[in-house]
Amino acid sequence: MSAMSNSDNPVEIIITDDWQGACFDALARQGVSRPLLVTSRGTASRLGLSGIFPNAPVMGDIQPHPTCEQMQAAITRTRRQKFDSLVAIGGGSVLDTGKAIRMASQAECHELEQLFGWDGGITSNVPMVCIPTTHGTGSEVTKWATIWDRKDGIKRSLSNDQLYPSAAILDASLTLSLPLDLSLISSLDALSHSFEALWNKNANDAATGFALEAIMLILQNVPRLKQNPKEASVRRDLLRAASLAGLAISLTQTATAHAISYPLTLKFGIPHGLAAALPLLPLIKLNRSLLSEHLNFLVKNLNLSSETELDKQITETPKPILKSRLAEFGVSRDELPEIARLSCTAQRMTNSATPLSRADVLSVLQAIY
Ligand SMILES: [Fe+2]
Repeated sequence: MSAMSNSDNPVEIIITDDWQGACFDALARQGVSRPLLVTSRGTASRLGLSGIFPNAPVMGDIQPHPTCEQMQAAITRTRRQKFDSLVAIGGGSVLDTGKAIRMASQAECHELEQLFGWDGGITSNVPMVCIPTTHGTGSEVTKWATIWDRKDGIKRSLSNDQLYPSAAILDASLTLSLPLDLSLISSLDALSHSFEALWNKNANDAATGFALEAIMLILQNVPRLKQNPKEASVRRDLLRAASLAGLAISLTQTATAHAISYPLTLKFGIPHGLAAALPLLPLIKLNRSLLSEHLNFLVKNLNLSSETELDKQITETPKPILKSRLAEFGVSRDELPEIARLSCTAQRMTNSATPLSRADVLSVLQAIY
């Protein structure tokens, strides 16, 4: 077992081959013993969680890309359950739902709508252990929970300093059964988080260091993942990369690529990680002067011959497993201006260090069409 250095981020990051032991140790360090278990049906059955946490109340049917209605239902269902902590085991949607339940419990407010922008104070501390089974969102180290408001067609966030998990447990064995397509989508999300931290108006040395290390780990390991998805050392590096990228955006937030991704996910169902990674290459071009030192660093440390080769590696990341053009997802060329308009109204767009016009965003969409 080892810890990961995490700058000023308050999450205790534990890298281990024994997630169960690390979880119970983390709960004991927090002085709690009755966690609410938040997970998905598949994870609960695959890991035999009812045997590992025999007396724990369970919120066990979390769906991907949770909506406001699903988050509210999870908060309502767990309101009367007795727990002193949370253990969330699963992908980003599970971890984010756990955070929403935790926020409601800590604030003693069980109306999701009131929790957005909550300034009513926190009544109690409910420690939370996050155990990711994917290597993408980095939610295990951030203070946000993403919620998909399908009624209004926007992505929303719960955000509060009290939402940083108490501990993140990274055990590569939990990611070995993740199918290759979802594995790539996860790593593409982490790759996008990393670049978002670089072209961000909130960029700083710590975030840049995390982001560059994450990019190198992802680009080095994705080809190996495609060859052998069951290789634990590859998964360990990709899990570490996702948390590093999470640490980076916990300092900067996300930016343009995520702003562009939200309408692509909400309107066309493009999985989040893929939607957030598709715009990367044209955005690298638009931000090239800002990125020149970082791109040189990556070319040198990845032993590449040129930036063109780096571009090629990024382009190749989803292939041949995932679709990588908007036209393949049923997007019509006529819809690009509206997607550009929606992208420019998304919260994260203003984090771009390079001011981008709606015409710039349209050019990005045309480049990936
Ligand atoms: Fe993301």
